[in-house]
Amino acid sequence: MRLLLLLRSAASGAAFCAALCLSIAARADDQPVNWANQGPAWNAEARAQFYSQDQGSRIMPLAWLKALKRADGQPFLADDLARYGYLPNPANSEGLPVGFTASGLRGAEWAGMSCAACHTRQISVGGETYRIDGGPAIADFQSFLTDLDAATGKVLSDGAAFDEFAGAVLGPGAQPQDAVQLHDSLAAWRLRYHALMAAALPDPPWGYGRLDAVSMIFNRLAGLDLGPPPSHLIVDNIVRADAPVRYPFLWNATRQDKTQWPGFEDNGTNQLALPRNLGEVTGMFGVFEPEKNRLRLLGVSYLNNSSANFDGLEKLEELMKRIGPPRWPWPVDTALADKGRAVFERPAADGGCVECHGVKPGRVQFPNQQTWATPVQDVGTDSREYVVLSRKAHSGVLEGAQIPDVVRPVKETAYIVDILAVSVLGSILQNYEASVIMDPGAQAVELLKFHVPPSLQGLVDAFRSIEDITNLSAIAGAKPAYEARVLEGIWAAAPYLHNGSVPSLAELLKPAAERVATFQIGPAYDIEAVGLAVEQPASSSTLKTTDCSDRNSGDSRCGHEYGVQLPPDDKKALLEYLKTL
Ligand code: HEC
Ligand code: HEC
Repeated sequence: MRLLLLLRSAASGAAFCAALCLSIAARADDQPVNWANQGPAWNAEARAQFYSQDQGSRIMPLAWLKALKRADGQPFLADDLARYGYLPNPANSEGLPVGFTASGLRGAEWAGMSCAACHTRQISVGGETYRIDGGPAIADFQSFLTDLDAATGKVLSDGAAFDEFAGAVLGPGAQPQDAVQLHDSLAAWRLRYHALMAAALPDPPWGYGRLDAVSMIFNRLAGLDLGPPPSHLIVDNIVRADAPVRYPFLWNATRQDKTQWPGFEDNGTNQLALPRNLGEVTGMFGVFEPEKNRLRLLGVSYLNNSSANFDGLEKLEELMKRIGPPRWPWPVDTALADKGRAVFERPAADGGCVECHGVKPGRVQFPNQQTWATPVQDVGTDSREYVVLSRKAHSGVLEGAQIPDVVRPVKETAYIVDILAVSVLGSILQNYEASVIMDPGAQAVELLKFHVPPSLQGLVDAFRSIEDITNLSAIAGAKPAYEARVLEGIWAAAPYLHNGSVPSLAELLKPAAERVATFQIGPAYDIEAVGLAVEQPASSSTLKTTDCSDRNSGDSRCGHEYGVQLPPDDKKALLEYLKTL
């Protein structure tokens, strides 16, 4: 890695050195990375593809991102975004970090984000760094979003800054009207971007390692995509994204029968994964501009200008299957771990874990896919994500849209889960439209169900899955239940619980009242407590949690009091066993 950095700095030439040398010096001091052992299927080639595969996310033209400046005058990309905790990807010739993508025609590429930006982490122990692919990112996404808003705002409000920006984007020989056009495009882009960020980003911010992805997907869809052109905005639909969760880990995710923290999505086949991934790309800067169109299947053009990369999403899903749970890289006391296994396997009432976290066969998904059961239970943890799931919005251009038999016609004000369901299913159906009999009428879906080629039969499962989600419309009264996953590789996923409110496994084995209330989230790891170290480097944030008197704060450390009454020796043994999973 160091060699590559040196090569890059030599190639960049003296002119850029003033701007870049600082960050290169800082980067050259980076420790070489220790790759966690994540099984034989996870090799360098798969990793490289996972780090850079496009999914159709379009943050902004790459040329803009490269031309933008930070508040201190340095290029926005100067440190490859390491200041937000994103990880260097020396293979990326544009200086984009892990999970940031450049895609599209040469010279007109879009900068985007992909799974690896949020689902890869690096931790440090005793001066060594360890990369864990598929692990929860320890990134500060909100600061990235806020800084991008400020950087573009400055270009639009400050003539000198705009001239410099235009010079960098347009290059020599640009005509005055090119600069005018560029100004208009940037202003149109920022009108939407700023509307979203100003209304959605919360204070206190998410900090490192957490993000309210569901709210951001809802906000993006309802606030930016359904209004009248040209802006498509419905500002009233944007609300504070104030229920941040810890990024989940991806190993084994494809084998679960339910997924997402609240366990609301059926899972286990690529067809079931597609609605999940499409929803995600819509939220992560995917272009989605549905348009009423009587001549199209379902009466709406769902893929009008859509940027979703269906092939890319399928590739990413296949890659995700290859990421194994990381093996604990340090010594383990195996005799003690054996004792811990016995504790783990006790009934829950005696402090055991296996009935919720053991590997058990789950629902069989079409065509014959055995999954792992994922119990979804209310164990007294924070309830705020359920407030998000019960939100409603104006449906705009999608008013009246429906998927016959699956999603009821969307009313003027509707649950956003219903609007999302009609959006992702409509997109999927129209993506396959070419291979089915066209019928703009209500029987289209029935026809599709009977005429799809065998390879697409699993789509029927996807319908059922979406139906389950829309039944969540009753969620306002639902209990705040979350998925209990198989705990392989759990040592590498701190802070714990869906909202990241507990810094280590040792703390999780204490009653909520005794858990630490305030802690730092950052990359330094403590292999005794198995989780976040108390002392963190500057690239960290402080999380203040609330106790059980405010379970709906979004930051409550309440609940999941399993194993908390075990005698100290049993806890120690259990902790040792959890390292080996
Ligand atoms: C901007 C960050 C971000 C990006 C990009 C992203 N994810 Fe996620 N992902 C999240 C967050 C946050 C959640 C948790 C959402 C929730 O349930 O509240 C999540 C949930 C998931 C889950 C469910 C895991 C579980 O434990 O239930 C899977 C699987 C997943 N993502 C896969 C992907 C894939 C595949 C991609 C790329 C195609 C991707 N993600 C892109 C942030 C991201
Ligand atoms: C009755 C079911 C049940 C039992 C028993 C149980 N858990 Fe859990 N566990 C859950 C649920 C549900 C969640 C998700 C809660 C949340 O995230 O809000 C969870 C979450 C966790 C997490 C956090 C996962 C993550 O990615 O952050 C860990 C770690 C964990 N459990 C460990 C244990 C251990 C160790 C035991 C035994 C001492 C145990 N659990 C017993 C249901 C259970």
